[in-house]
Amino acid sequence: MKKIIVSIILVFVVVLIFQFVGCGPKKEVLSTPIDKTALDQPKDYVGSKRCAECHDKIYYNWKSTKHPYKITESNEKTVVGDFWSHNTLEIQDKRDGQNKVVAQMIAKNGKYYVQTYADKNTDKMQEFEIVYNIGGVWKQRYITKFPNGALQVLPVQYNIKTRQWVDYHGLKGHTPGDGKFWSDPTRTWQRNCAKCHTTGFKMNFKDGKYNSTWADNGAGCEACHGPGSHHVNVEDIKKLDTIVNPGKIYDDRRANMVCGQCHTRGKSTDKKFGYPNTYKVGDELTFHYDQVTPEKDKKRFWPDGSSTSHHQQFTDYQKSVMFSKGVKCWSCHDPHKPSTGNSSSLRLTGNLLCQSCHGVLAGTQHLSHNLHDHGNCQACHMPMTAKSATPGDIASHTFFAIPPTATVKLGGGDLKKQPNSCNLCHYHKKTPVEDLVKEYEKSHKEKATYGQYTSLATSYR
Ligand code: HEC
Ligand code: HEC
Ligand code: HEC
Ligand code: HEC
Ligand code: HEC
Ligand code: HEC
Ligand code: HEC
Ligand code: HEC
Repeated sequence: MKKIIVSIILVFVVVLIFQFVGCGPKKEVLSTPIDKTALDQPKDYVGSKRCAECHDKIYYNWKSTKHPYKITESNEKTVVGDFWSHNTLEIQDKRDGQNKVVAQMIAKNGKYYVQTYADKNTDKMQEFEIVYNIGGVWKQRYITKFPNGALQVLPVQYNIKTRQWVDYHGLKGHTPGDGKFWSDPTRTWQRNCAKCHTTGFKMNFKDGKYNSTWADNGAGCEACHGPGSHHVNVEDIKKLDTIVNPGKIYDDRRANMVCGQCHTRGKSTDKKFGYPNTYKVGDELTFHYDQVTPEKDKKRFWPDGSSTSHHQQFTDYQKSVMFSKGVKCWSCHDPHKPSTGNSSSLRLTGNLLCQSCHGVLAGTQHLSHNLHDHGNCQACHMPMTAKSATPGDIASHTFFAIPPTATVKLGGGDLKKQPNSCNLCHYHKKTPVEDLVKEYEKSHKEKATYGQYTSLATSYR
């Protein structure tokens, strides 16, 4: 009898050990069944031009969106900053309180330069040649190359709408003893930006030197479809399911993570990178990325839980009822739609977009929908409360209308501490927030009480 018990225990222990040693299920859990074949093939990035050979219409449509242009080589066609007339940046020196020129932007012989301080301990300016630009819709930033191959983000930023040069964190810290400075290794583009602004990025860092490579300068086809070498090489009749089609990822959450890998802020789980360096399209993002939350970084959120900062659309969206019901980013945005201006490649514009699924909202006779029946869904449900270059240039993606009550109860009545959807229009009429609250509560008593919005601040509804 004793022997039997001992052998049972032994078998049990052996099974347990095997589990831990790694004979149990391993990484497979990271891929979704339907894309398993697509994910399992040995593959590399080939670049979007290769896809054009067969998907030419999609290719040319994609070319007209903003995704391909996130990083560009600097030349007269791509630089949007003013390097000629209003081309200096002045800020206050913490040491003596005086305003000082801290950077000068100049163009010569078709090349672009920034003269600025490279070290927080010297007062001598140096000249840096710009090799790449990032962006150009809201703002543009500039990159220079250091001798070890580090691509360093220069400390100036050009805001498109206001046509102004502003400090991009770095020069304000021009005080001996200050922490981060723009030339520090912690500010290197390869570590903090690269994967979100290129496709197929490879770090290649050895002996203090960077030999980084990437397949496309922007978010190419393979940023959303995964590496394509296998798909390109396989016979035509066998091409289906050899590359990830985000529309076929069976788990709605993971599907939205295809966009979420870039449209959310955070740190890689090993804390070394400002992006999810190990994530592959089809993976569960949370295994690769610690997303920003109000607890981790308060300044990225308003007290109601919606974002203050740009590239947090996915951060916001996870709080939406639509996210939990499986509505996709691409239910509203068509990544292959020919885009004109800053139209965000929306499938439909204005109220038509929302009404294509929500009809005319018959039966919701509250003040907001009733009185504002001609109103603009986005103005209330996607208030412009986040910032890329200037305050209010990015729309909230929680899809909650932020009530005036939030300003009173969470922001002490101060719109700068907690904005709301209503005052973004009613501001110019000087309607006091308290009056709006009264009107609002008359009509929304049962549904949109303040309580609903506090739960938004602490949990994903
Ligand atoms: C040599 C021609 C060729 C090239 C090059 C090519 N494709 Fe395809 N692709 C096809 C064909 C054929 C299909 C299958 C169409 C079908 O049967 O509906 C396909 C299907 C797809 C699908 C849908 C797959 C599915 O299972 O639903 C995606 C996504 C795709 N291609 C993306 C790409 C990307 C990204 C590239 C570049 C890396 C690329 N293709 C390069 C020919 C090509
Ligand atoms: C996690 C992904 C991610 C990382 C990391 C990241 N960005 Fe971005 N960035 C985005 C997305 C997405 C957008 C566009 C959406 C938005 O701004 O809301 C953007 C927008 C921008 C823009 C404005 C583009 C325009 O057309 O106006 C600039 C400039 C920029 N990023 C620079 C940087 C720099 C410099 C770094 C590194 C210090 C960086 N980004 C790191 C995802 C990222
Ligand atoms: C920003 C992300 C993104 C980029 C960039 C992108 N796609 Fe897609 N693609 C998607 C999504 C999402 C779907 C699924 C759409 C759906 O199911 O409605 C898709 C679907 C497809 C399909 C399947 C057929 C179809 O039209 O639905 C093909 C083929 C395809 N993409 C090719 C390409 C090629 C080629 C490029 C580059 C020129 C490209 N995609 C760039 C996100 C992207
Ligand atoms: C590889 C990173 C990456 C991925 C993946 C990605 N984006 Fe982006 N997206 C960006 C960056 C960076 C920008 C800013 C481009 C610029 O303005 O220079 C941007 C811009 C946008 C814009 C605004 C551009 C405009 O036309 O005004 C929309 C909308 C957008 N992305 C939606 C999506 C959707 C939807 C998906 C998923 C299907 C997606 N993105 C996937 C990085 C990414
Ligand atoms: C592709 C279809 C689709 C589109 C387009 C769409 N929605 Fe939705 N929306 C849904 C679905 C599905 C739900 C979940 C409804 C449910 O479970 O009762 C939802 C829920 C919502 C909710 C939450 C409702 C609640 O019960 O709390 C709001 C608010 C909302 N949508 C606003 C919008 C706005 C604003 C737009 C336009 C910018 C929009 N929707 C566009 C499909 C869509
Ligand atoms: C004047 C501001 C305002 C406008 C304009 C507006 N909404 Fe709303 N909407 C609200 C408020 C406030 C609520 C109630 C919030 C809650 O109950 O959590 C709401 C609730 C909703 C809901 C949740 C269910 C319901 O019917 O109460 C949906 C869906 C919705 N709106 C869609 C839309 C669509 C689609 C449009 C455009 C046709 C639109 N809204 C225009 C403020 C607005
Ligand atoms: C229900 C529809 C809907 C869904 C779902 C949706 N968006 Fe949007 N998005 C919009 C609309 C409408 C705008 C334009 C807002 C404006 O300019 O007033 C927009 C704007 C944007 C922009 C431009 C910058 C900004 O925020 O103003 C980006 C980038 C973007 N969306 C990315 C995404 C990503 C990524 C997802 C998924 C995580 C997503 N969107 C889901 C409707 C949607
Ligand atoms: C897109 C701009 C816009 C937004 C956002 C908006 N309103 Fe209005 N509101 C108006 C306009 C314009 C009128 C004048 C009546 C009309 O023509 O609809 C108005 C009228 C009103 C009135 C009638 C009294 C008056 O001042 O004329 C009240 C009360 C009101 N809004 C409350 C709200 C509340 C509460 C919200 C937020 C949930 C809100 N509004 C959001 C534009 C807006």
